[in-house]
Amino acid sequence: MPLCKSLMLTWISIPLCGFCDPFFILAGGPGSGKGTQCSKIAATYGFCHLSAGELLEKEAQSGSEYGALIKALKADGKLVPSEIVIKLLQQAMEENKMQIDPEFVLFFECSEEVMTRRLLNRNQGRADDNRETIQKRFRVYNESTLPVINYYSSKGKVHKIDAEQPIEEVFEAVKRVFFKLGWKVRE
Ligand SMILES: *[C@@H]1O[C@H](CO)[C@@H](O)[C@H](O)[C@H]1NC(C)=O
Repeated sequence: MPLCKSLMLTWISIPLCGFCDPFFILAGGPGSGKGTQCSKIAATYGFCHLSAGELLEKEAQSGSEYGALIKALKADGKLVPSEIVIKLLQQAMEENKMQIDPEFVLFFECSEEVMTRRLLNRNQGRADDNRETIQKRFRVYNESTLPVINYYSSKGKVHKIDAEQPIEEVFEAVKRVFFKLGWKVRE
């Protein structure tokens, strides 16, 4: 088994990529390409991956207080509040002896127009992403993620990435940020 020196987290609306040392957040709207880039980053830099979906599922099965709430919300077709996701995230990070405060935040900037187009293309033939639900996801994103981005912006920790470019160009931009930070590609 390869040495696991990091943990990467994917959140429902804010996928997070975390490294043990250093840890960072990858944020962007639905359809901004976070998931795709998380996989590429994991493969290129050799990091482990843990999804928040799995984290929530595990908690739901555990029979804990949060677990019961998560199950009830799911049965109602509701989103799990971000405070709970953050709590679970912190727990998982503490268990893995990771620092909570990210070194920096990679912010995928992408217009709603482009994200909508991608989401509609991605879900061709599937009913779960029509224009109405997409608008709802953008609202949730605006309310939950943007304040986080602004908070880290005020601390000078945000690196913006133009996420409207093709996948390979976005990844090149990500690599340039990592290179400046002195992070090496896995041999
Ligand atoms: C989200 O915020 C952006 C920027 O403030 C705004 O242009 C957009 O209309 C908002 N979207 C929704 C769905 O509320």
